[in-house]
Amino acid sequence: MIKKQLFSPGPTPVPERILLAMAGPLIHHRDPAYEEIFQEVREGLQYVFQTKQEVLVLASSGTGAMEGAVCNTLSRGDEVLVVRGGKFGERWAEICEAYGVNFTPIDVTWGEAVDPAAITKALDANPSIKAVLVQASETSTGVMHPVKAIADIVKKRDGTILVVDAISALGVVDLPMDQWGLDVVVSGSQKAFMLPPGLAFVALSEKAWGFAEGSDLPKFYFNLKEELASAQKNQSQFTPAISLVVGLREALRMFKEEGLENVFKRHGKLAQATREAAKALGLELLAPQSPSNALTAIKAPEGVDGKKLKKNFEDMYGLIIAGGQSQLKGKIIRIAHIGYFQELDIIQAISALELILKEMGYPVELGKGVKAAEEILGAN
Ligand SMILES: Cc1ncc(COP(=O)(O)O)c(C=O)c1O
Repeated sequence: MIKKQLFSPGPTPVPERILLAMAGPLIHHRDPAYEEIFQEVREGLQYVFQTKQEVLVLASSGTGAMEGAVCNTLSRGDEVLVVRGGKFGERWAEICEAYGVNFTPIDVTWGEAVDPAAITKALDANPSIKAVLVQASETSTGVMHPVKAIADIVKKRDGTILVVDAISALGVVDLPMDQWGLDVVVSGSQKAFMLPPGLAFVALSEKAWGFAEGSDLPKFYFNLKEELASAQKNQSQFTPAISLVVGLREALRMFKEEGLENVFKRHGKLAQATREAAKALGLELLAPQSPSNALTAIKAPEGVDGKKLKKNFEDMYGLIIAGGQSQLKGKIIRIAHIGYFQELDIIQAISALELILKEMGYPVELGKGVKAAEEILGAN
C-alpha cells in the first residue's frame, strides 16, 4: 500500500473540515445564503491580508490575479521594474510583455534575494518607472525577497506602485499590506489557504486604485473596478467558484482560530526544522541567505540524480514533493511546509529523505536529519 500525500508548494493538502464544507449541496450565488457566506469571506480575507481594502476574489489560478494586477493599474508603454530571480519573476515579465508594458528586469541569481539597493538605483536612473513587480516568496527557488525594504523605497515615490506576488507568502509570513504600504497584493487558493486550486485574490491600496483610474490596458474578465463594485454588494461580476468560496470561509475560520501570529510561528518552525535537518545530512540549501518559510529547496548532492530523488519520494513513500523548474530541473528538490502542515509531517519528509538517499548510495547516518529537526520542533 502507498498512501499519497502532498508535500508540494501548491497544490497543498486540504484539511478534512474544508473538504467536508465543500461537499455540501451546491447553493445558488444569487441566494442570500451565499451573500452571507461571501460577507464573512470578505472580512476574513481582510484579516489575512491585514488590510482595510477590499480583497477581490477571482475564479482563476493565481496567475489570473497577477494579470489583473498588471492590466488594471498600468497603461500601454508604461515602464516598470521586474525582479527576475526565478520562474515566477519571469512570469511578471511575460505578462508585461503580453500587454505592451516595457519592463526593465532586475536579474537576480536563482537562489538569491534581490538587493533593495538595486531597486533604488534603477528607480533613480529612470524616475518614470510606474511600478516595481516582485515576488514575496519565489516558489521556484525557495527565496524570500525583502518586501518591506522594497516597500520603504517605493512608498516615497508618488508615481510608483509596488506590486507583490504573495501567492506563496501570504498566510505564511507576516506581510501586513496596509502597515508596510504594499500597493497590490496577489495570492491564490492552493497555497497557505489550504484549498484546491481555482481562486485568486488581489487587493489594491488607495494609491493603486488611483493608478487604476488612469489605466488604458484592455480588460474584461479581470476588470477589478467592476469586481470591486460587485464585491461590495456581496456578489461577483461573473459566476463565482461557489464550492471553493464555501471552502474558503472554512479556511478563513481556521486562520482566525489559530491566530495569524501562531500561523506565522508554525510555518517558521517547520521551515527552520527542515533546513536544519537538510544541513545535518550534509546537504546544501539553494537559498541559505534568505529562505522562504513556505518551502525548502535542497540541492541534489554530487552524484545523486535530482529527478530520481524526487521520483523516489513518491514511488517509495507516496510523498509528492516538487523538483526544480527550468534551469534548476534535476538539480534541486523542493519540500513544502505551507498550509496544512504540522510538526510530525516534517519528520516524515526528513525520514523519507534519509532513507531514499541511503538507498541511492549517498552516505547518510540514519536519524541525523530527524534529530536536527526534532531539536527545533521540540523547542518552545
Ligand atoms: C510565487 C508564485 N507566483 C505565481 C504562481 C502561479 O500561480 P498559478 O499556478 O496558481 O497560476 C505560483 C504558483 O506556484 C507561485 O508560487
